[in-house]
Amino acid sequence: MTKIAIWCRHHNDNIIGIGPKIPWHISSDFRRFRRITDGMNIVCGQTTYESFPNRTLPNRKIYVLTFDENYIVSDTKNHFVVNDISQLADMEEPLYICGGASIYKLFMQKMSPEIIVDSCYMGEIASDLDGKPVDITECIEKMNKKYVQISPDYDEDNIITTIRIKKGEFIPQEILKHITFAIINH
Ligand SMILES: NC(=O)c1ccc[n+]([C@@H]2O[C@H](COP(=O)([O-])OP(=O)(O)OC[C@H]3O[C@@H](n4cnc5c(N)ncnc54)[C@H](OP(=O)(O)O)[C@@H]3O)[C@@H](O)[C@H]2O)c1
Repeated sequence: MTKIAIWCRHHNDNIIGIGPKIPWHISSDFRRFRRITDGMNIVCGQTTYESFPNRTLPNRKIYVLTFDENYIVSDTKNHFVVNDISQLADMEEPLYICGGASIYKLFMQKMSPEIIVDSCYMGEIASDLDGKPVDITECIEKMNKKYVQISPDYDEDNIITTIRIKKGEFIPQEILKHITFAIINH
């Protein structure tokens, strides 16, 4: 299984959320995320899952990480409860890691993604949201040490997206082609 982490962080402070919300609303960011993950298997934490409209994302299989063994998903055909990431180890198809912070950190520590789609928002973040800032600085520090950028900087609506791969890993070319096509084909 090839694992791909996909995030959009604020430049300099690596904030990805304030409380449960993403503190910017750039529609091209959501569209890029949709194009990259359309038809794919994705994994996210329970908090992020609860933030999806109607707790779903069409045309994706969603693996929801929660410690709650009795957690009930909104769509039992396409969404699956996962209590331990080791349950995902035998999956053959690519797996897109979609947050939030605890899930990015968990994978970066225990099951390193071979690919990172790193989007960086260069604008101002909303200042009127309640809740604590959520950042992924430890993931970015690891990314900067262990990954190499293999794409140009793709700039759209003040968000710079790059593709990074883990040094020394074999990366299936068809996955890179899919991601590149999804980024540039807007
Ligand atoms: N900008 C972006 O790209 C992006 C993307 C996604 C999310 N976000 C933001 O990220 C923030 C949410 O991040 P978060 O860290 O608070 O929440 P989260 O990672 O979405 O979910 C946390 C939950 O995941 C479950 N979990 C965590 N570690 C686990 C493990 N080892 N095994 C099993 N289950 C585990 C727990 O669920 P239970 O409590 O049910 O046990 C935990 O409460 C929000 O602000 C959201 O908007 C941003």
